[in-house]
Amino acid sequence: MFYAEELVEEIRTKNDIVDVVSGYVRLQKKGSNHWGCCPFHNEKTPSFSVSGPKQMYHCFGCGVSGNVYTFVMQYENYSFPEAVKMLADRAGVNLPEVEYSEEAKKKAGKRARLLEVNKEAAKFFYYQLRDPHGEIGYNYLKRRELSDETMHKFGLGYAGKSGTGLVQYLRQKGFEDALIKEAGLANYSEKSGLISQFWNRVMFPIQDINHRVIGFGGRVMGDGEPKYLNSPETPVFDKRRNLYGLNFARTARSGNIILCEGYMDVIAMHQAGFSQAVASLGTAFTAEQANLLRRYTDSVLLAYDSDGAGVKAALRSIGILREAGLTGKVINMRPYKDPDEFMKNLGKEAFEERIRQAENSFFFEVRVLQEQFDVKDPEQKTKFHREIARKLCEFQEEVERDNYLQAIAEKYFIGIENLRKLVLQYASQTGLAKPIERPKSGIQSKNSPQESAKKAQRLLLTWITDEPAVYQKIKSFISAADFTEELYKLVAERLFADLEQGQFNPAGIISMFEDEDKQSEAAALFHTNLPQLETPQEREKAFHDIVYAVKKNSFEFYSSKLGADVSALNQVVEGKKALETLAKTHISLE
Ligand code: CTP
Ligand code: MN
Repeated sequence: MFYAEELVEEIRTKNDIVDVVSGYVRLQKKGSNHWGCCPFHNEKTPSFSVSGPKQMYHCFGCGVSGNVYTFVMQYENYSFPEAVKMLADRAGVNLPEVEYSEEAKKKAGKRARLLEVNKEAAKFFYYQLRDPHGEIGYNYLKRRELSDETMHKFGLGYAGKSGTGLVQYLRQKGFEDALIKEAGLANYSEKSGLISQFWNRVMFPIQDINHRVIGFGGRVMGDGEPKYLNSPETPVFDKRRNLYGLNFARTARSGNIILCEGYMDVIAMHQAGFSQAVASLGTAFTAEQANLLRRYTDSVLLAYDSDGAGVKAALRSIGILREAGLTGKVINMRPYKDPDEFMKNLGKEAFEERIRQAENSFFFEVRVLQEQFDVKDPEQKTKFHREIARKLCEFQEEVERDNYLQAIAEKYFIGIENLRKLVLQYASQTGLAKPIERPKSGIQSKNSPQESAKKAQRLLLTWITDEPAVYQKIKSFISAADFTEELYKLVAERLFADLEQGQFNPAGIISMFEDEDKQSEAAALFHTNLPQLETPQEREKAFHDIVYAVKKNSFEFYSSKLGADVSALNQVVEGKKALETLAKTHISLE
């Protein structure tokens, strides 16, 4: 634990989960729960539930669950101490000096130090740009028509004529060489020792969604190579999971996100008032970035370069967006190369018009496809139509597929019925576009004994958190030691100890675990669906079965350890008796 447990609990109880989540997700109350569309996966109908009484959330679509801490950790990309800090601020709780465990101190300390050194480097570059020595950089950016305000907003900077200035400055600020190197700000060279690879470049600090500098991109002055140089990946700089400009775009509320290729494009767009523009970080757009965007929008407009490379990149990104369940559209930049040039030449209103005319990504794909064929030649034309059919098969949903089929048939003057036949032909040849076979309901795959035992333990814990009163009825049979799954045992220990004192707070139990995976596993415990049962008799039988299964598994578990572990004897003797009693005891749930 980073902070005293009581404090963590105090902060948690002062941050009502329904309030906190409402700041991010539109929720509607239904019964004792609130429902909304899950911010962690794409969906149109709400399956994300937030429970006020349990102070937890759970998504029945993608399975995420947790308490208020795990929510802000997942949503804001915070570490646990960062989440504690944010929620403490929100609730007006003063945090004392933190109590770090050694290991935690190292980990949290390293991240914090890397962020600090990046921030300090950003300051250095920032002042260089505004220093007479940085005139080249400043003039360059002016020539590219950036205002002082824009340069300030994006924290733009300049790395001077040599790579030693930065290192000297950072050392002077007390950063060790090893840290400077680990932050990707410099490297050792035999000739000159530690020296920064960033020099003679205008510098673009790359910020995460919370405005923390996590890395840099630097553009060379003039025509040197490489044109852009980016920080390497570090523990705080994950290029797959961050987007340039998202720290501003996330609050733009424009109903869409504009995805560009370059830093300069993003900046030019923001300067023109399109603050929903973002770009990937010197690498191709990733599935992780698509998932990130899905939290803020379901509509992504591609503003990629109009050249061949840009079209290729757009095709790739369209696939990724589609996989992520996002609607992609393509903005036509012609006759200009990229958004930056477009903005300079035609300006804001013209771009707004281009946004309105943005092309549906499927139409874009087909149009690009057509360019590969000479449709005046019947043979080529047939090939083109076959390719269209193949692409149409990528739509799993029949209605959607048929809507596109009709639209494309009309657009390219293909007979609808002919195109339908082609699609059917292609689908039957390849086995595509068949309805997805779902496992028949009711027939469940046989679980291994371990899985069944685990499931019984999980169900029992869920049942108790749903109806804490049942604890009193089973405590003579069941103790925390009966939970042979380590994580469940820890949960049971805490839960039973709480219940003994007349307390009950499942959400608090989650914060016992530092590890994120453990947190969500513990959280998931409280959301397992209990068997849906009609009559009280059925319920009582199901409950009895679960208790018996847990005890029986425990008995077998300790019996198998008897040879090696004397302390198991107690459990075995007690277990045998309990099982006998349980067999003839009726546990009433009235
Ligand atoms: N990029 C990179 N390394 C390169 C070239 C490009 O990482 N050698 C990345 C950068 O993130 C850059 C983006 O790709 O912002 C787009 O590249 P490009 O189209 O060449 O850049 P422009 O934005 O047109 O750059 P400029 O206008 O400054 O010439
Ligand atoms: Mn450009």
